[in-house]
Amino acid sequence: MESLDIIKVESVHWYVHDLERTRRFYTQLMDFAELGESSAELTARGRQKSVVFAANDVTLVCSAPVGEGGRAHRWLKKHPEGVGTVNFLVRDVEKVWKLMEQRGGTIIDDQLQRFTDEKGGTLAFFSITTPFGNTTFRFVQRDGYEALYPGFVKHPAPRGGKNRFGFGKVDHITSNFRTLQPMVLWMKHVMGFEEFWNIQFHTEEEIAQGNQHGTGLKSIVMWDPKSTVKFANNEPSRPRFKNSQINVFVEDQRGEGIQHLALLVREIVPAVKAMRATNGLEFLATPGAYYDYLPERIEKSGIKRIDESVAELRDLQILIDGHKEHQYMLQIFMKENGHLYGDREGGPFFYEIIERKGDKGFGGGNFKALFESIERAQSAERAKQAR
Ligand SMILES: [Fe+2]
Repeated sequence: MESLDIIKVESVHWYVHDLERTRRFYTQLMDFAELGESSAELTARGRQKSVVFAANDVTLVCSAPVGEGGRAHRWLKKHPEGVGTVNFLVRDVEKVWKLMEQRGGTIIDDQLQRFTDEKGGTLAFFSITTPFGNTTFRFVQRDGYEALYPGFVKHPAPRGGKNRFGFGKVDHITSNFRTLQPMVLWMKHVMGFEEFWNIQFHTEEEIAQGNQHGTGLKSIVMWDPKSTVKFANNEPSRPRFKNSQINVFVEDQRGEGIQHLALLVREIVPAVKAMRATNGLEFLATPGAYYDYLPERIEKSGIKRIDESVAELRDLQILIDGHKEHQYMLQIFMKENGHLYGDREGGPFFYEIIERKGDKGFGGGNFKALFESIERAQSAERAKQAR
C-alpha cells in the first residue's frame, strides 16, 4: 500500500478551559517553552485563543474558547479537556489528499488550505475525521515556512521553560475505544498503517479468584513503518467489561479518544527525580512488592543486567520491561490531568515518561508484573495473618 509519507507527529492540538492554568502547567511545571499565540484576528475569527508550547520535538497547541461556537467551545461542551487534533508533518500533502479520496478518508476542508509567510515559505494542510471519537487528523506540509502557524504570532524569544527534564519527542500516542476493529481497519486501509504489536490480559488471571475488581483490556499498536509513528489502542475486555480502566476512561472522557502521550527522554532517572521535586507533578504509585520481585524478573525475562540500580528505580517508582539481554524500556505514568488540576474537567488524560534501551515494546510485561506483585503482597499478608 502506498505510504502517506508521514515525516512525524508535528504537534497535537488541545482544547482547554483555562489557558492560564494550562500555561502554568506546561511552562512552570512541565518546563515547556511558550513559543507564541494566536493573533487577535485569528482569535476573533476562530472564537478561541491559542498558545503554542514546545519541549524539543514535542509541540502542543492549546486552545481555549473565546465566546461560543468555536471548535474549543464545541469540544468542551461534549468532553473534558483533551487532544482534539493530531497534526502530521508530511512530504506531499496533495498526494495525501488524493490517497484519502481514493481510500475513503473523510476530508473536512473544501480544499487544501494554503498559506505563505513573510519570507515566502509555504504551508498547506487539510483535516480528516477519524474513528478516534471527535479527534481529527491534520496533514501539514511545510516548505521553508518559518512562522509558527497561519495567524499565529511568535514571541520574540521563547518564554518560560527550558525543558530541563529532557523531553525529546512523542514516542507513541495511546487511545481508548469501546471496540478496536473499526480503528484497526481504518488505520490499515485509509492510513496505510500496519499492526506492530498486540497484547491481551485480564487481571483476573493474575489475581487470586474472588477478587471483584479484576479488569481486562486488549491492546493493538498500529504503526507507520516509514516514519515509525505509533498509535497504541485499547478496548475493555470481559469479564467486568464496565469496570475495565479502558471503559472508565471512555466514560470519563465522555467518548473515545486519546488517553496518553508517551514523552521520550534520554535518561529517565534524572528526569523523574527532577519531576518529583517539582510541586504539582505527581506519578502513579507502584507497589513496593514490584521491586522485591524485580531482580528475579530481570533474570527470568532475559534482560539479565540493567544500568540502573533497583534501589533507585524503587525510590522513583519507575517501571521496567524487556525480553532480551540488556535490552529494556523504562516507564512511569503521571496522574491524570484532572487530578493534577484538582478539577475533573481537566480530563482523564495523562502523560507517560519513557526511556528506551533497545526494547520496542510498550511495557506489556509491567501489567502482569504489577498484578503479580500485588498478589504476592496479598498472599504474604494472608500468611502473616494466619500465623
Ligand atoms: Fe504508553
